[in-house]
Amino acid sequence: MKSFLQTLKNLQKTVDIYWNIGENSGQFLNLLIKALKCKTVLEIGTSNGYSGIWIAEALAKNKGQLYTIESHKKERFNLAKENFEKSGLSKNITQILGHAPEVIPKTPKKFDMIFLDATKYEYCDYLEKILPRTKKNSIIIADNILSHEKELKKFTQKISSLKNFQSFKLNIGKGLLIAIKTS
Ligand SMILES: C[S@@+](CC[C@H](N)C(=O)[O-])C[C@H]1O[C@@H](n2cnc3c(N)ncnc32)[C@H](O)[C@@H]1O
Repeated sequence: MKSFLQTLKNLQKTVDIYWNIGENSGQFLNLLIKALKCKTVLEIGTSNGYSGIWIAEALAKNKGQLYTIESHKKERFNLAKENFEKSGLSKNITQILGHAPEVIPKTPKKFDMIFLDATKYEYCDYLEKILPRTKKNSIIIADNILSHEKELKKFTQKISSLKNFQSFKLNIGKGLLIAIKTS
């Protein structure tokens, strides 16, 4: 079995401990990145790297790079590093250690896709910081849009109110909000 699939299979055992996205959400992100030929993806909330592996496998096919932010140094940041190495995808992944609202402005470029999966009450802060990192046709995807509907209401309202974004809620996994920058 390819090493990225074997790594994902091993990580299935701990999805509840590391708050990972569901397998179907991973498959969806992977397919979308391939379909849209994304080359640069920013992820907020690496945890142990499960979603990052799904994303990076698609980016490797597109000769692209994942930038992924995690604030929990002692365990999760280092665990993700190990898992990325096991998956064989390390060279397509740049890990960033830090508190997302502070480190997003230091990321190097505009992104084709930005995936939000961290502290729910901070999503509005993330949005403010990531908007300058988007361009026409950039996609923003936010996890937990159905499982944490109440907590993410302000964020959903904010993104829906942006005139140059079109958004849609998908009933995949814990609920994914997908928004595209139209101009
Ligand atoms: C839901 S988990 C991410 C799961 C991961 N995307 C996956 O599916 O494999 C959220 C992670 O975001 C991290 N996190 C929360 N707030 C953060 C912040 N402000 N900056 C960076 N990381 C943060 C947490 O430490 C945690 O590991």
